Amino acid sequence: MSDRDTPTEDASPDEDRRQSGRAWRGSDAPLRADGGEASEASRASSERRADGGEANNESRVSSELRSDGGTETEGADDVRLDPWGSSTIADYRKLFEQFGIEEFDEALPEVPDPHYLMRRGVIFGHRDYRPVADAMREGEDFASLSGFMPTGDPHIGHKMVFDEIIWHQQQGGDAYALIADLEAHAARGLSWTEIDEHARSYVLSLLALGFDPEDGELYRQSDNRELQDLAFELGTEANFSELQAIYDFGGETNVSYMQSVVTQMADILYPQLDGPKPTVIPVGPDQDPHMRLARDLAARMRYFGVREAFASFEAEADERVLLRQAYDAREEYAEDAELPRCGEAADWLRTREPAPPDARESAVEKLENAGKEPIRPRTRIFDRRATDAAFEALIEAVSGEKRVYDEHVDAFELDEGEAEELAREVELENGGYGFLPPSSIYHRFMTGLTGGKMSSSVPASHISLLDDPEDGYDKVKSATTGGRTTAEEQREKGGKADECPVYELYAYLLSGDDDEFAKEVYEECVGGERLCGGCKEQAAELMESFLEDHQEKRAEWEEKLDELDIDLDSGRKRA
Ligand code: TRP
Ligand code: SF4
Repeated sequence: MSDRDTPTEDASPDEDRRQSGRAWRGSDAPLRADGGEASEASRASSERRADGGEANNESRVSSELRSDGGTETEGADDVRLDPWGSSTIADYRKLFEQFGIEEFDEALPEVPDPHYLMRRGVIFGHRDYRPVADAMREGEDFASLSGFMPTGDPHIGHKMVFDEIIWHQQQGGDAYALIADLEAHAARGLSWTEIDEHARSYVLSLLALGFDPEDGELYRQSDNRELQDLAFELGTEANFSELQAIYDFGGETNVSYMQSVVTQMADILYPQLDGPKPTVIPVGPDQDPHMRLARDLAARMRYFGVREAFASFEAEADERVLLRQAYDAREEYAEDAELPRCGEAADWLRTREPAPPDARESAVEKLENAGKEPIRPRTRIFDRRATDAAFEALIEAVSGEKRVYDEHVDAFELDEGEAEELAREVELENGGYGFLPPSSIYHRFMTGLTGGKMSSSVPASHISLLDDPEDGYDKVKSATTGGRTTAEEQREKGGKADECPVYELYAYLLSGDDDEFAKEVYEECVGGERLCGGCKEQAAELMESFLEDHQEKRAEWEEKLDELDIDLDSGRKRA
């Protein structure tokens, strides 16, 4: 979460703001990962192969971002990812359309008892959340994990993520929170002394908000040997060009910075070290490039891949569509419809129009070369990075008619789902991880209290969880609002709750689980019954008591912290 550095910016009032169906859900704060413009030059598109044969759709998106290449420690702010250059609400659309993030609302009905951040549209997007929701509903294993760079004090933006982890824990998930100290050191240039100072504070707030440390796991990257071993393994599947394309790394990028990337990949897959399970990573959308890479690496670590095939030769996805058509049309051309031949299918396919011509040409050629070989659907399980022993075990395990090749087994009596399951079982029995692709959920960034971006370098723009409660009160009292110039105008036209940082505080934090209250504030505001003075007074008081309460709980945990098995001092005092 880099809310600290992923401020939002007020859009002009006439900008295209999405009118929400549930009007009280919270403002459509524009997504903004930094105050600046992503240069065209920093855009890079990456296309990778996830499985030795097929370009993986997920990675076929371009990512734009900024980075300092890793050498600047002062301009450490630049380290964050900024995959979406502009600041209007259209960015959400871009996230959905261009990057393949899905709208959270579509998954919402499948979540048994959704968190208020989900209900209010603050969590607006996800990648593959369904397996997590399914596991939740069915009482199966699932996990939630997120990480925090200890670059400053935890603030109300981090609170959202703390709450998301805690909520998943309360829904029965395994919960993990980590201190990304290696990343803070390598990518942000923080000294170990600074890191140690802050690490403890994040943990205290997380505990104060309800994380159960007996049941969940807290760790520091630098202290977790298993994690680092996993990072090392994952690094064998990622190369420099790829990191360059995704993160804009260059020749001058420091090596530890790259290591911090594979470390984050390991964080994301860490909950699956004791067995594959749906895992959700709650983060801001600026972390999405990490998610795409993690999902890709999860696939690349798999021993076997599964796909449909029609003959002994390999075919690309678009060719397979044509092969399927040719097979389905066999009655039209085969001398013996029970035994259509590849050569016959080639003759038929050659006369077809619809296909992408390239794929048709190559498919025809492959079919021709196969000549008399029958065209016949089957499920292919192919070797991706299996050991010899695992491949042998797979051959054994495939039931029914099968054909064995050097690098794949064709199964004629297993459908793709059955083959997937079998492949994962064999992998797990033979020392593989069997990773499921990790899922993510994305929350909106809060608007700064001063109207512009929320930034920790502008204390008045944000509220730290360590702020003196009275300061918290004062900051809310002096916040910008979506109010009109005069009280009369406000009574007449209503306030602009959708553009009001104070309303955001109500929706994101102060109303807690109480939807009725959030709705009331919204409706009173837009209906002109609520005036900003009183509204801010109420919010300021709520903020003050939230901070008092939170800090009391922190103090209680402070005393208990020593009993917990988490080492908060790195012992790395050198720099
Ligand atoms: N890169 C994240 C940030 O900038 C921190 C982080 C490290 C993280 N490991 C993670 C986030 C794993 C989510 C999951 O704040
Ligand atoms: Fe914002 Fe409250 Fe004023 Fe409405 S009444 S604009 S919610 S401060």
